[in-house]
Amino acid sequence: MARQRGHDRWIGRIVRALFALWAEGTRRRRLGHQAGRRKNVSHPQQIIPHGHVLRYTLRERLVHWIAGVSYVYLLGTGLAFWSPWLFWLAAALGGAQVSRTLHSWAGLIFVGAVWYMYVMWAPQMKHTDDDRRWWKALKYYSTNQDEKMPPAGRYNAGQKFLFWGFFWCSLLLLLSGVFLWAPQYFAWHSLLAMRIAVLVHASAALFTIGLFMIHLYMGIFAERGAFGSVIRGDVSIAFAKRYHPTWYKEIVGESSSPRK
Ligand code: HEM
Repeated sequence: MARQRGHDRWIGRIVRALFALWAEGTRRRRLGHQAGRRKNVSHPQQIIPHGHVLRYTLRERLVHWIAGVSYVYLLGTGLAFWSPWLFWLAAALGGAQVSRTLHSWAGLIFVGAVWYMYVMWAPQMKHTDDDRRWWKALKYYSTNQDEKMPPAGRYNAGQKFLFWGFFWCSLLLLLSGVFLWAPQYFAWHSLLAMRIAVLVHASAALFTIGLFMIHLYMGIFAERGAFGSVIRGDVSIAFAKRYHPTWYKEIVGESSSPRK
């Protein structure tokens, strides 16, 4: 009983900490906008020797990999709970008990990382008219006819879709996950509420799995050179010109339009 109360107190603290983090992020973003400041401004110093351009700072890469590693762990343990056919994954990831306990904590780490991505990247992920044209030209993208695509900024419309997909799904996963973790903490908990939470949790997770598979394919196989950018931080100038021409022009100062 005392152990249960301690557990409940921890969950209460976590929920409060997440709200505090959210409020702080919103406050900082508002202050940043008021001061006319932009994070990650495109500037000529991003051009580095040997024909390369800095694409991701160390902080961006660290946050990305915290999200990546925690997501893979969540995926493995989550699939193990989803189907008896995949329960062997839990055994491989430390056993049923360890997987059940760490799944929730890894979830908090993942949501924290996605939240930090939101703070870093949300202003650059706004949809624009170019993005609408990009979706219309998707058939050229899928057949590698990049020269027929409308020029993309730092992120193309597909990358923005992935970002927002992960962002909204992580919120749904957090809300349903905290409830499933400790339903007794919520006065209104019931069997129906549990069923709804399971449905929301599983649907949001399945949607992220679809996004994740496309992300892996694009990042590792389709856009040659992209993977190095989340490891070393840079891409070749040829890569920047081919996939993100507007971003490249902003860096070298050829574009007067604001960064998208
Ligand atoms: C664990 C395996 C992962 C790999 C191999 C991977 C790979 C990559 C690569 C290569 C890029 C750079 C793309 C570019 O700038 O052209 C990237 C960017 C990005 N990744 Fe991942 N990633 C992984 C996991 C994740 C997860 C779990 C998330 C979910 C939050 C995520 C979210 C993002 C976002 C939002 C970007 C920037 C926009 C974009 O390129 O789509 N990644 N990742």
